[in-house]
Amino acid sequence: MYAAVVRSFDEPPTYDVFPEPTGSDVLEVVAAGLHPRVRSAANGTHYTSEGSLPMVPGIDGVARTAEGELLYFVADDNTTGTMAERAAVDRRRAVVLPEGTDPVAVAAGMNPAMSSWIALRRRAKFQGGSVLVLGATGNAGQLAVQIVKHLGASNVIGVGRDPERLKLLPSLGADEAVGLDAVGAVAADVGVVLDYLWGEPTEQAMSAILHARSDRALPLTWIQIGSMAARELTLPSYLLRAAALTVIGSGQGSVSGRDILAELPQLAALITSGELAINARPVPLAEVGKAWAEPAAPGERVVLVP
Ligand SMILES: NC(=O)c1ccc[n+]([C@@H]2O[C@H](COP(=O)([O-])OP(=O)(O)OC[C@H]3O[C@@H](n4cnc5c(N)ncnc54)[C@H](OP(=O)(O)O)[C@@H]3O)[C@@H](O)[C@H]2O)c1
Repeated sequence: MYAAVVRSFDEPPTYDVFPEPTGSDVLEVVAAGLHPRVRSAANGTHYTSEGSLPMVPGIDGVARTAEGELLYFVADDNTTGTMAERAAVDRRRAVVLPEGTDPVAVAAGMNPAMSSWIALRRRAKFQGGSVLVLGATGNAGQLAVQIVKHLGASNVIGVGRDPERLKLLPSLGADEAVGLDAVGAVAADVGVVLDYLWGEPTEQAMSAILHARSDRALPLTWIQIGSMAARELTLPSYLLRAAALTVIGSGQGSVSGRDILAELPQLAALITSGELAINARPVPLAEVGKAWAEPAAPGERVVLVP
């Protein structure tokens, strides 16, 4: 079969022949999203990377059964991923999609949407209140603003860098949309932070919020989800003593595979309902090399279509 094939962690994948996957359910792939997580697995830097090559990238996608049913599925193999004509689908890691579903939108949206959905439902045990999304202008951040509202937050604050895309956030449900310099002024008493950035922007936001708090004993749960700005953080020790700050992470490992899978049906239903704004760009799988080299337009998710 044809697939996107990674032969070196220093080179983008090429459209090439790759052995057919094995398993009881080998299905036609309809769409697979090019998420940051897919890139980091394909360049060997993701924390789950096992370093084996050659590999087919792609962690999830939409496949069609012989009967014509569409399934969203999560790959369970780090070597033969979803950016291929066919993929092995484990039905325990798949959700049936309703007829008429746009497979490209589902392939674009499930991974970024899952980041906030799982963080709030499985890590924060979210019961409402005020939430700040740090890195709200990206795909996952924009979906986080919408999901936070959907899950009942009283107040959603979007924080990001790009001034033009910050202006979009109120139409997605944000009560405030500000740059980093205004965080202390608008988020003093926030209860949860969903952090897609880490590094310097996190250092700045954490310090600003904790210094602005009206009551230092008010709990603040800071959830590390992505590291678009940096992989490391300098955390002054006094911030942990001077306020009721809890820092946790959300991702593969901190949430069990079983718990992640348990959330898929409800999230897939939300995405297929059309309630969330998803900006997907389909690209033929044969053009994977070009798609890899060209960064997606801001806020857009490339979806490879075999
Ligand atoms: N843990 C999980 O469960 C999980 C699941 C999905 C995704 N993620 C992670 O979430 C992160 C975001 O994913 P995504 O799909 O939203 O990616 P994306 O669409 O590429 O968006 C990334 C955003 O990061 C911002 N950014 C990049 N560098 C920055 C910097 N130095 N300072 C401030 N902002 C910066 C950019 O904002 P501007 O250009 O607007 O400034 C961009 O919009 C990734 O790290 C991804 O791996 C985690």
